[in-house]
Amino acid sequence: MADITKDKIKLRPFSFSDKKRMAELANNKKIWENLRDAFPHPYSEKDAENFIEMCLSKNPKTFFAIELEGELVGSVALVPQSDVYRKSAEIGYWIGEPYWGKGIATEAIRQILDFGFENLDIVRIYTGIYGHNLASQKVLEKNGFQKEAVFKKAVFKNGKFCDEVRYGILREG
Ligand SMILES: CC(C)(COP(=O)(O)OP(=O)(O)OC[C@H]1O[C@@H](n2cnc3c(N)ncnc32)[C@H](O)[C@@H]1OP(=O)(O)O)[C@@H](O)C(=O)NCCC(=O)NCCS
Repeated sequence: MADITKDKIKLRPFSFSDKKRMAELANNKKIWENLRDAFPHPYSEKDAENFIEMCLSKNPKTFFAIELEGELVGSVALVPQSDVYRKSAEIGYWIGEPYWGKGIATEAIRQILDFGFENLDIVRIYTGIYGHNLASQKVLEKNGFQKEAVFKKAVFKNGKFCDEVRYGILREG
C-alpha cells in the first residue's frame, strides 16, 4: 500500500557520487531476477560507475536516478528505439528493496511518462515484464498501460523459461 506523498519523489540525472549507494542497492538477486542479464550480478561499484558513464553520455538524457527526500532509491529510464520503431521508447526501472511497497515505482513511472511524452518525439512507451513479476505489472496498470500480449517462453532467465507480458501506453491525442 502506497504511503509516500508524491512530492517527496523526484527524478534527476545520475552523478558519480551515486556510485556507492547505487551498487549497494543494485547488488540484490531479487532485482536481478526481474531484469535482463545485462544487469550485472553481483553488482559492484565499478558496474555502477560504468552505468553512470553510459547515462551521462546519452543525448537526450533519458536515464534518471529516483530520489526519495534527497536519497537515491532506484532508477527509471526510457530507451528511445530506432529505424521503424523510432517513435517508441522502452521503459525500464528498479527500486532498492528497502523501499519496495511504498508507491515509489508508481510515482516514478508517472513522472517519466510525463517527461517522455512532453520532451521526446514518441507516441508509444512499452516494456516486457516477466510473467511472475506481478508487482511490476501492477505499477504499469496503475499508470494506464494496457496489457497487449503474452509471449510464451520468450525469456530464459536464471536457468528457467518464463513468459514475457508486453505492456504499452500511447500518447494521448
Ligand atoms: C517491481 C518494482 C519496481 C515495484 O516497485 P515499488 O516501488 O515497490 O512499487 P509500488 O509500491 O509503486 O507498487 C507496487 C504495487 O504492486 C503490488 N504488489 C506487490 N507485490 C505484489 C504481488 N506479489 N502480487 C500482486 N501485486 C503485488 C503492491 O501492492 C502495489 O500495488 P498497490 O499500490 O495497489 O497496493 C520493485 O519491486 C522492483 O524494483 N523489483 C525488482 C526489479 C523489477 O522488477 N523491475 C521491473 C522490471 S520490468
